[in-house]
Amino acid sequence: MKFVYSDLLTCPLDHHALQLDADCLRCADGHAFDIARQGYVNLLGAADKRSRDPGDGKEMVAARRDFLNDGHYQPVADKLANLVKPQVNTDSTIVDAGCGEGYYLEQLETQIESSSHCKPTIIGFDISKWAVQAATRRLAATWLVASNRNIPLAANSADCLLSLFGFPVFNSFRSVLKEGGTLLMVDAGPQHLIELRKVIYPEVRRSDSTMLQQACAAGFLEGETSTLQFQTDPLSQLQIHQLLSMTPHLFRATREGKERATRLDHFPVTVDIVFQRLHKGGNT
Ligand SMILES: C[S@@+](CC[C@H](N)C(=O)[O-])C[C@H]1O[C@@H](n2cnc3c(N)ncnc32)[C@H](O)[C@@H]1O
Repeated sequence: MKFVYSDLLTCPLDHHALQLDADCLRCADGHAFDIARQGYVNLLGAADKRSRDPGDGKEMVAARRDFLNDGHYQPVADKLANLVKPQVNTDSTIVDAGCGEGYYLEQLETQIESSSHCKPTIIGFDISKWAVQAATRRLAATWLVASNRNIPLAANSADCLLSLFGFPVFNSFRSVLKEGGTLLMVDAGPQHLIELRKVIYPEVRRSDSTMLQQACAAGFLEGETSTLQFQTDPLSQLQIHQLLSMTPHLFRATREGKERATRLDHFPVTVDIVFQRLHKGGNT
């Protein structure tokens, strides 16, 4: 896919604007970033990396792509589109922070185009180069390898920022959002994958998220919350494996728990999702 340049991009080293210069992006101080042949740019500064290969690995990305392509989370994509559509037009900029392999942005773009016939600017970034490479194959958008900790976008540039099952950094999110812009957080609710969690953990604990408090402490204003609950079709052994591989449960579950999961087949699971809207208010 051809790289889609946006004049909102900034240098991760000095935050100057990045201009398109043949096959690279360059800032006024001469920092240059090559455009990869797949159609993305790596704007991850050395200081933003906590490992040699940060973020989701190649296999996790492939598992998520295959699982999502099978349509098991279609209702999540539909609800996301219904929440975003009313607030976007052709002049809007939508940014997916921790976009993974691009499933939700592809769904969103298709649904916005078919119902509103408008083409907002779409930017997706993820710290995993494997995820971004996979995303470039889904749709033409501005794809970046970058971190939530140092988002290479101009301040006050995004109308709508998405963080789906991600690792939000609220100060950075707040900085790139326009005044009055929206952050839409999509995360697992208490019953999410409960049947699978009962198999892989000796005891299922309720995790009380402090995300909302963190967001408000960073100056976000709480907007509406909505939830979505449904059961998937019975999942095959392979699909259970993919589902486990695309979640943090892959690292948290015990060895015995994961072994028990390999024996599951024809196994429906509950999907329980919380959609939380937050708004960027004035200065705090
Ligand atoms: C659970 S996955 C969700 C991916 C995608 N949003 C989805 O729902 O399909 C979390 C993603 O966050 C990415 N990630 C982890 N730390 C990050 C960071 N500091 N900045 C940006 N992305 C990050 C991972 O590489 C991974 O793709």
